[in-house]
Amino acid sequence: METLILSTARQLSGTVRVPGDKSISHRAVMLGALAHGTTEVEGFLPGADCLSTIACFRALGAEIEQPDPERVVVRGVGPAGLREPADVLDVGNSGTTLYVTLGILAGQSFYSVLTGDDSIRRRPVQRVGVPLREMGATIRARAGDALPPVTVIGGGLRPITYAAPSASAQVKSAVLLAGTFAEGVTTATAEAASRDHTERMLRAFGAEVTASGATASVRGPARLVGRRVVVPGDISSAAFFLVAACIVPRSEIVIENVGVNPTRCGILEALRAMGAEIALENEREATGEPVADIRVRAAGLRGTRVAGDLVPRLIDEIPVLAVAAACASGDTEIRDASALRIKETDRIATTARMIRAFGVAAEELPDGLRIHGRGSAGALRAAIVESRGDHRIAMAAAVAGLGATGETGVTGAECVAVSFPGFAERLAALQGRP
Ligand code: S3P
Repeated sequence: METLILSTARQLSGTVRVPGDKSISHRAVMLGALAHGTTEVEGFLPGADCLSTIACFRALGAEIEQPDPERVVVRGVGPAGLREPADVLDVGNSGTTLYVTLGILAGQSFYSVLTGDDSIRRRPVQRVGVPLREMGATIRARAGDALPPVTVIGGGLRPITYAAPSASAQVKSAVLLAGTFAEGVTTATAEAASRDHTERMLRAFGAEVTASGATASVRGPARLVGRRVVVPGDISSAAFFLVAACIVPRSEIVIENVGVNPTRCGILEALRAMGAEIALENEREATGEPVADIRVRAAGLRGTRVAGDLVPRLIDEIPVLAVAAACASGDTEIRDASALRIKETDRIATTARMIRAFGVAAEELPDGLRIHGRGSAGALRAAIVESRGDHRIAMAAAVAGLGATGETGVTGAECVAVSFPGFAERLAALQGRP
């Protein structure tokens, strides 16, 4: 087991890059496999989750090369070219691989089985099973169709209009990708908008997609054509450095080349509402996605309320937002976030536990958290925090450790490689250490 040791940082400064966006990296491999022709991916995230997607699509018959960690070449087999895998598909720890691949497998007439690690086998599959069955796929799972391993025999899909009970991009993406195999228009809608990378990338690959607010549609059968995909840095990874620079006194850093898709920028809004000094510079576009450099300076933070439409736009950033809240003056309340209960861990419980380890009062609410901020990072007392195998809990605890007084240890830190290989090295570089 790996342990990260953090001592109080005096200041963070300099320029840093974060690895490629996880959501976009997964989708580039998936759409590349379904397309005609070759897809070249640059800036790919070589994290364990995205490597699971590559392994699954290789097992489904796509030829995928990775000439260097951040470059992937996918030779598409076309929508009818995937083949029945010879063995169970293992998604590792990756929820996106599980849920979104199910949408693609629903379009295949062959038999396949998906499973993953202990955490994955606790994650609910009915959220995609329900709409995919309505489209005509046969989907069975353990525990009364609730949990992986999950089996699929698909094909012959009909288009549907699906009103999802939660604003999940994974569910929406599964429905839309299944829709690329159905004859006619498939629509996914929800109460709030979620990340729209699938819609943007389907369009970039030539599909007919319409989207407005929390509703997106695709016309099937879609003909996708492979292309070059440039993946920007992941704002969910940048969020750890954003919060670190806010809470460590005298800091000023620039995080270069970050994806700033509005459906992902909730963390910028929430931190600004807390008083953070954040500026976007050098705004540009890559493969239909907005990109910028983000400059952030240390600032005194105050508590805030996060709820409603904002939540899906920062869902993965809540553990580290809770660290910002712990260092802020006043209370922060996070509501409407019950989706956190079905992430890599129950992140309402694991975030509250992690914040309390630093001597900060944090209450677990059924759909969120209430955190009683201590007014400054220095008021946090160093802690030993166990990641419980959740990469975002490990990194959020490391950020708190930079601010806290004393030496913090994060145990079980090997899970950081799920989404952010090189995290500890970059954190050290921002402190001027080799
Ligand atoms: C993701 C969607 C989100 C997010 C996950 C990645 C995606 O999950 O938490 O890390 O790539 O579509 P939900 O769709 O369940 O909100």
